Amino acid sequence: MKVAKRTFDAVIVGAGGAGLRAALQLSEAGMKTAVLTKVFPTRSHTVAAQGGVAASLGNSTEDNWHWHMYDTVKGSDWLGDQDAIEFMCRKANEVVVELEHYGMPFDRTDDGKIYQRPFGGHSMNYGQAPVMRSCAAADRTGHAMLHALYQRNVRANTQFFVEWMALDLIRNSDGDVLGVTALEMETGEISIFHSRATIFATGGAGRIYYSSTNAFINTGDGVGMAARSGIPLEDMEFWQFHPTGVAGAGVLITEGVRGEGGILRNDAGERFMERYAPNLKDLASRDVVSRAMTTEINEGRGCGPDKDHVLLDITHLSPETILKRLPGIREISIQFAGVDPIKAPIPVVPTCHYQMGGIPTNYRGQVVIPKDGDVNSAVVGFYAAGECACASVHGANRLGTNSLLDLLVFGKSAGETVVEDFRTGALALKPLPEDAADVSLARIARLEGQKDGENVHEVRLDMQRTMQKHAGVFRFDNLLKEGAELIKGVAARAASTEIGDKSQVWNTARVEALELDNLIEVAKATMISAEARKESRGAHVRDDAPDTPEHPNGRNDEEWLKHTLWYSADNRLEYKPVNLKPLSPNVEPIALAKRTY
Ligand code: FUM
Repeated sequence: MKVAKRTFDAVIVGAGGAGLRAALQLSEAGMKTAVLTKVFPTRSHTVAAQGGVAASLGNSTEDNWHWHMYDTVKGSDWLGDQDAIEFMCRKANEVVVELEHYGMPFDRTDDGKIYQRPFGGHSMNYGQAPVMRSCAAADRTGHAMLHALYQRNVRANTQFFVEWMALDLIRNSDGDVLGVTALEMETGEISIFHSRATIFATGGAGRIYYSSTNAFINTGDGVGMAARSGIPLEDMEFWQFHPTGVAGAGVLITEGVRGEGGILRNDAGERFMERYAPNLKDLASRDVVSRAMTTEINEGRGCGPDKDHVLLDITHLSPETILKRLPGIREISIQFAGVDPIKAPIPVVPTCHYQMGGIPTNYRGQVVIPKDGDVNSAVVGFYAAGECACASVHGANRLGTNSLLDLLVFGKSAGETVVEDFRTGALALKPLPEDAADVSLARIARLEGQKDGENVHEVRLDMQRTMQKHAGVFRFDNLLKEGAELIKGVAARAASTEIGDKSQVWNTARVEALELDNLIEVAKATMISAEARKESRGAHVRDDAPDTPEHPNGRNDEEWLKHTLWYSADNRLEYKPVNLKPLSPNVEPIALAKRTY
């Protein structure tokens, strides 16, 4: 097959919030920048973010970045790196005001400031009471953000390659990254994108689970490519289950609903969160609320004929508030649950939403790996930002609205680092190896030639069911052990998938088979890392690591206050220390403590 070559200063994979924010930095600095994306940029999954972006603007309640930093470290169950967390919380106001200046249509307070609402785990005065920190455009914040960023990129002459799927990372014998190979879906042609800098902003991989708020495009492409090329994946055992997915459909109902006063109720109509989180109640951190809901259902207090969900009640809010602040979720409830939330509560269940782990980076967006005795050695030419990256600001559990903040702050930071490296001459255009496209061509050729192979849909379904049962909201030692073996079996089957359609033009069967290669890397990393971590922390709660005086909440800091690194080649696990030191010497570290809300 003929392989075309295109050369850019930088190639960015993914056109969601992180990719667009990074691209803007590069294009405005005059760098020749290509953005590859499977879907039109404004259809990227950032569009689904509803409730807001966190920033301590203090427009409606007193606030400051120290409180935000405290909440984020506590939310992460102390697994987040405090240098990166300080950086993100300090930068929040700057990146949000920047967006406002780009024309993002935020809702407004009566005095014209950006509207802010409360969100889970965000508090004032170090956990004392809920704070209004989430800057919102109704319940369509991600949608508004993508449009503002895309328009700004058009102005800056960013070059978009729409409906292109990146296939594999190109590295030379020193391990430096020289670009990617990619498939143009319309024609089936393969190209090499040769570049000085490569930024991954490919989003999450929630589609490894059976029930997910994630779009079908969220197949962990960047994470899979990185893993296959020898980059370890960090903290992949930590997955967030959003408390309020529509029961049966999985579609997201924003936490902003509870921010506006929504209440979770069991079959007796009880506001059960008062028992689990007496202080913040329905606005406790997501992992806490998801476990409380699952416990209510498991103990027979669920609702409906099968007692398999709980209810999210906003019938006490005025119809005006719902129509003004939550128009999107009203529409979703009517379409997917058949209820108008003005009149009746919405049936909800915890649903897979976000990957806390990913490609290891530092707060400057550089991908870092253990090398020559340095656990955080930067890979030359390789950067990542947003959900596919692990900076690590979310640690073992992310706070709602910190995802949009993460992609803005670290998208911009990765862009700034690339521009700086470009200007100082640190980013050379290195020669491509002869075999630069061979891995991708071999993957395509295998699919072309495979006989009597596995059905892509069936293998993907088995992976999703295995993940859902064996690595869900609560985790069990025996299920994790069994799950680790099962997922290796599914991975072996994924290596011999067969597609019926061998045509070149718009071959979506081929795209799905290639996506499965990425999903399976994420699934293996998750299960194997989760089986190995013998403690409970954040979203990873095991039956054999219960709450004891010695190990509050089952967390074992003596043995497990460390980041996991998983290597694809041999399923090897290594660990590296958590950075408990903030970035600035005059900022006090947030001391380890038991996490209660
Ligand atoms: O509930 C939500 O609106 C989701 C926000 C988030 O995941 O940050």
